[in-house]
Amino acid sequence: GDPNILSDFMVPSNVTAVDANFFTFTGMRVLVGADPPPAFKVLKASLAELPSLNGQSVSYAVLQFPAGAVNPPHTHPRSAELLFLLQGSLEVGFVDTTNKLYTQTLQEGDMFVFPKGLVHYQYNADAKDSAMAVSSFGSANAGTVSVPNTVFTTGIDETILAMSFKTDVATIQAIKAGLATKA
Ligand code: GLV
Ligand code: MN
Repeated sequence: GDPNILSDFMVPSNVTAVDANFFTFTGMRVLVGADPPPAFKVLKASLAELPSLNGQSVSYAVLQFPAGAVNPPHTHPRSAELLFLLQGSLEVGFVDTTNKLYTQTLQEGDMFVFPKGLVHYQYNADAKDSAMAVSSFGSANAGTVSVPNTVFTTGIDETILAMSFKTDVATIQAIKAGLATKA
């Protein structure tokens, strides 16, 4: 978990009066009765959205997958993720440090653990039904490192990328162009 704190909770210096609202997050109300989003969407309740989580070692994300949507491979450097599939079905997978791939098809009501720091993804393979999951994290700020974005959208030298992926610079540029224009 996150480092232990020496008080019941931590109050940012800009917060003057603490009451129950400091511990309340209403940002998920937008989900009630709403239609599925047009593309994969994450709604987080973590340190940035709910500052009272500082030092508490917990947070949530709500993941919405319209039919055919993917959450691309990524890692969380500071926490495992326990996903609870509330609606629909979901293809999930992660890769361990021996490069072994673990995949599963989750049904409504199932849970799945993505171990801390490992590359993982989710995909709603259904042609018409959306899926929704809630993920819990053992950190108030688990962090997300996207594999496509960290590798291809940060300005790493294209020759280095071409060498690393055993391809040519034109292929690297085509991947970068696709990431820049397609949702
Ligand atoms: C899903 O894996 C997420 O962390 O958003
Ligand atoms: Mn994740």
